[in-house]
Amino acid sequence: MSSRLPFRCGYASFGIGRAVHSEAAPPAEEPPRIPAIVDLFEMLARERRNLPAMPPELADVLLAKLEHVQASDFGIGPDICQQLPPSAAVGYIEVGQTREVTLCVFVLKKGASLPLHDHPGMHVFGRLLFGRMLAVSFDLEPLPHPPAPTSPLPPTPEGFPPAPPAAPRRHARVYETEVYGPEPRTYSLSPSAGNLHYLEALEDCCFFDVVTPPYDASQGRDCTYYFAHIDLKLASKGEFCPVEVYQPRGFYTHPLPYKGPRPDWLQAPRAPSDWV
Ligand SMILES: [Fe+2]
Repeated sequence: MSSRLPFRCGYASFGIGRAVHSEAAPPAEEPPRIPAIVDLFEMLARERRNLPAMPPELADVLLAKLEHVQASDFGIGPDICQQLPPSAAVGYIEVGQTREVTLCVFVLKKGASLPLHDHPGMHVFGRLLFGRMLAVSFDLEPLPHPPAPTSPLPPTPEGFPPAPPAAPRRHARVYETEVYGPEPRTYSLSPSAGNLHYLEALEDCCFFDVVTPPYDASQGRDCTYYFAHIDLKLASKGEFCPVEVYQPRGFYTHPLPYKGPRPDWLQAPRAPSDWV
């Protein structure tokens, strides 16, 4: 599907005081429709330098382009989940990346989830391509100034490295909770709106992400996982809960090959990543 309508040329005949007859023009050949993903790539290339700042008008254009993107644009069929080995519940397809943006697709088997995680200082524009998915997003409450004191740590036994400082307690408020699908669905988050999210596949599902700027720990944009002291399936908008930084055990993503188009400006994929 393309957002571009085929160009049609109309002929008009004019005469003075008499009818002018003209032969019917042969039907114009319709130019090939541009796949939606190619249309999106072209826009991203033009606006590449502006992506990380993401002015509102650019966000609107990006969301509008995403509305036309579908699974087949990426060479993805409904059997994509069957390409995952039995031991893997989440697949990752890296479409490409630059210093300004990461483009990727996640594939989730029914029941699989992406643990609650953040995107510090980043914008994410996503599109569910097929299936049904629960999405619960949060706003992280700002840290108090100065940070609340933490409990003193026990002394480190001799010969062991000092323990890292305890992470301060944080709180978060549910920004949105919604089931996406089965129709494709476009959504977004920003540095200040729903920056943390939890995603759970209610059916085999698949979604495309435009992430800008990319995760980069050296620039303070590492991915942090949080454990929310709340039943995420029952969360309601505006609910407030404590959250703790944690490392989800056993969570990983299985790399899958990308079979769609990739413009020159998108670099070749890196090593398999566990970014979410
Ligand atoms: Fe995410």
